[in-house]
Amino acid sequence: MANTHNEDAFVAFERVQKSYDGETLVVKDLNLTLPKGEFLTMLGPSGSGKTTCLMMLAGFETATHGEIKIDGVSINNIPPHKRGIGMVFQNYALFPHMTIAENLAFPLEVRKIGKSDREAKVKRALDMVEMGSFGGRRPAQLSGGQQQRVALARALVFEPELVLMDEPLGALDKQLREKMQFEITHLAHNLGITTVYVTHDQTEALTMSDRVAVFDDGRIQQIAPPAELYENPQNSFVAQFIGENNTLHGVVKKISGNACVVQLDSGEEIDAMPVNVSKVGDRTTVSIRPERVEFDKTRLKKGAHTLKAEVLEFIYMGDIFRTRLRVAGNDEFIIKSRNAPDQVRLQPGQQIEIGWLPEDCRALDA
Ligand SMILES: Nc1ncnc2c1ncn2[C@@H]1O[C@H](COP(=O)(O)OP(=O)(O)O)[C@@H](O)[C@H]1O
Ligand SMILES: [Mg+2]
Repeated sequence: MANTHNEDAFVAFERVQKSYDGETLVVKDLNLTLPKGEFLTMLGPSGSGKTTCLMMLAGFETATHGEIKIDGVSINNIPPHKRGIGMVFQNYALFPHMTIAENLAFPLEVRKIGKSDREAKVKRALDMVEMGSFGGRRPAQLSGGQQQRVALARALVFEPELVLMDEPLGALDKQLREKMQFEITHLAHNLGITTVYVTHDQTEALTMSDRVAVFDDGRIQQIAPPAELYENPQNSFVAQFIGENNTLHGVVKKISGNACVVQLDSGEEIDAMPVNVSKVGDRTTVSIRPERVEFDKTRLKKGAHTLKAEVLEFIYMGDIFRTRLRVAGNDEFIIKSRNAPDQVRLQPGQQIEIGWLPEDCRALDA
């Protein structure tokens, strides 16, 4: 778990709890620290407490218990205009009656920055998001994507050390969203800004972040860099929430070191790596990524367990093939294979055997 007295922490949540009604905790004992310059994403389903955490950090909501610190100072002791926090939200809320340049100048005026300085900063911020020639327009005269870029420029124009973004790309179409994801991460890294980004979109979280904190029910279920989160989920929730996973249910039959044999409820045995199980007899949900399933026996280790499978559906997706199987009574077992010249295209009705390396199959909490 995060160190609660980390001297390198630029942002720190220390044992933070939040209740809106005095009864239910929507944030439960949150400990989280970010070093300067980190891009951290809070990822989780709707209602898991992400926005509440961001609002507490911004100072719009107060924590019921615990403390939030920026650069070692409790935010309660920092007046809002000195917090140096830039914010971008889903409904970017540019001021409709002001031009783009006026929108950007506004946070500078609030901070009592002189006119010539203001003009230089506005120009630089607009150039940064490639909107330099749009300063004279009003928000209604821009596309959604352009407005979003202006919102980003407005959050950055006063050179905040910390930027908070709450689902800022939710309203954009896929192509623009992907372009903006790329632009935001590059801007943040180039400017050395510490960013807390909120999304419910796991692809967005994986592609943009230095670390991802997976939220569920007011708690961080796991916090890790994207590759670790994807490859080493620590529990069933994270395994299901990040990427696609096949799950099978059973009981641990043998266990030694980092290998175990699980007897599935259908009776067959499989190889797995114990993650949340510790002894013979433990119930478990095992989790296998579709791209790690092998149906070419020569690629399996000697003595590996295999399962009989029936091909139900073959879907051509261009870069990959997606094949749906019936495995151990599960009709939704998916395997993915790369569309390479020598790749086998399985046919519905075909009977095959599948297996995997034990380290690719994680025995998690039941
Ligand atoms: N202002 C509020 N008053 C009362 N309850 C709230 C308020 N804001 C959020 N909640 C509740 O707190 C929980 C967490 O909400 P939120 O932080 O918005 O989650 P997320 O951003 O992950 O979707 C939800 O159950 C939500 O209904
Ligand atoms: Mg939210």
